[in-house]
Amino acid sequence: MPRSDASNAGLPRHVAIIMDGNGRWARQRGLPRSAGHVAGVESVRAVVRTAVDIGLANLTLYAFSTENWKRPLIEVNHLMTLFRGYFRKDVRQLRDMNVRMRIIGNRSRAAEDILSMIEEGEKLTEGNTGLNLAFAFDYGAQEEIVAAARNFACAVKEGTVDPESITVESFSKQLQTGGMPDPDFVIRTSGERRLSNFLLFQSAYSEFLFLDTMWPDFRRAEFLAALEHFVARDRRFGTVAPEAVA
Ligand code: IPE
Ligand code: IPE
Ligand code: MG
Repeated sequence: MPRSDASNAGLPRHVAIIMDGNGRWARQRGLPRSAGHVAGVESVRAVVRTAVDIGLANLTLYAFSTENWKRPLIEVNHLMTLFRGYFRKDVRQLRDMNVRMRIIGNRSRAAEDILSMIEEGEKLTEGNTGLNLAFAFDYGAQEEIVAAARNFACAVKEGTVDPESITVESFSKQLQTGGMPDPDFVIRTSGERRLSNFLLFQSAYSEFLFLDTMWPDFRRAEFLAALEHFVARDRRFGTVAPEAVA
């Protein structure tokens, strides 16, 4: 779909997606959970391509949470193998699609080779001017917020920051999404209605869409349909609509 398509109008500036339901998708088909994760990677590809085609500015995909390390080792290892495969195969395509990719999350726990692939991908695409694509990988919002608070505490202790000068804006800049606008639209697949430690600070005024669709079934058509829901939302940010004022 070309950029000039009507669906471009009223697009959110930043869509964030909790990609959930791979395991249930597989179970419904009598397949191992790993097959659900493999199919889920195809949904990532479809959604990124669609985002590029419609001219979306920012997309964040929740790929692995700080809590996901608690899964059985065999599943964690399989997910890491899929991340490796994705970064190895797709980063050049992202570069060619003018996508700028980055990771938000903790960069100290994943395997060295994955961390260096991430850094290479970020470097390779840093000059791109199209879609800003963030993968939340080993990401947890509570950890992110505490880290930002800790940075401020250290700066105050060193005397470089006056506590009175700390604002919502300066705090936001310390978060890993610093530089990206807050997500206007958060989508979660799989029927669960919770945030699971995703973008807790940044989603203060986001619109939410919870879909029963499992992530491996969420492709171009489902993404475009979800965006239609956003266009229909009435966002007030705590105010009243002008026509409602007597
Ligand atoms: C989402 O699917 C993928 C990750 C969290 C990495 P799940 O693996 O959570 O699938 P369900 O929720 O068990 O169906
Ligand atoms: C949230 O899904 C994390 C990702 C999609 C990466 P989970 O499947 O881990 O969340 P819970 O356990 O159902 O809350
Ligand atoms: Mg899940």
